[in-house]
Amino acid sequence: MEPTEWPGVFRIGRDLYTRNAVPGESVYGEELRSESGAEFRLWDPWRSKLAAYLTKSPSGPLFDGVRTVLYLGAAHGTTVSHLSDALPDATIFAIEKSPTVFAPLLALARRRANILPILADAQLPERYAADVGPVDLLYQDVAQRDQTRIYQENASVCRARRGLLMLKTRSVTQRLPPAEVGRAARRELAAAGHRVVFATELGPFSREHLALLVGT
Ligand SMILES: C[S@@+](CC[C@H](N)C(=O)[O-])C[C@H]1O[C@@H](n2cnc3c(N)ncnc32)[C@H](O)[C@@H]1O
Repeated sequence: MEPTEWPGVFRIGRDLYTRNAVPGESVYGEELRSESGAEFRLWDPWRSKLAAYLTKSPSGPLFDGVRTVLYLGAAHGTTVSHLSDALPDATIFAIEKSPTVFAPLLALARRRANILPILADAQLPERYAADVGPVDLLYQDVAQRDQTRIYQENASVCRARRGLLMLKTRSVTQRLPPAEVGRAARRELAAAGHRVVFATELGPFSREHLALLVGT
């Protein structure tokens, strides 16, 4: 097991792992591996777009200095659980609007003190902004038509310095090719003062998504 450039994230070959904050527990059936007195969870890029992004992206300061994360579209908490492992001293505000998946997310948060789940609509950030406050990292994974606007509004009310937008191009429109949807999103973000510093498709892991790294 070797450390990577991202604190809290490890690798064996191309496989990524996080150190399990709740030893003995696998969150979504992922492999657990013990080494040198610690337990690690395989971070599956086919199940988590953030793992796909880290597998495909060059090294970068994604997690540096991150103490607060606003995570939009937490679902059952698959990716949130790995962030919880990787950033043990950070607070992760996990926004999810579906009551059905909120129940397992709550159960996960009961075992991981750094996850604070909020049942809310990411299209209405003013409803949770006061509870969340300023954040260091905004992570968004919601399949909505207005994903870019959702990103901008959340970044603005929570004063996010850095963000990662997992853009599902087919949810924006099926009339334009994904690359064109990506270019339009970049133009919109730039017009709102957000600089896209790196962009990548997430294929083969998640063919419908472009990852846009915004900020420093
Ligand atoms: C693809 S899943 C997220 C998977 C998760 N990010 C992961 O990697 O483990 C998208 C989630 O976004 C949620 N969602 C969609 N629109 C939303 C909105 N406007 N506000 C909050 N959550 C939303 C859906 O209910 C769904 O659970």
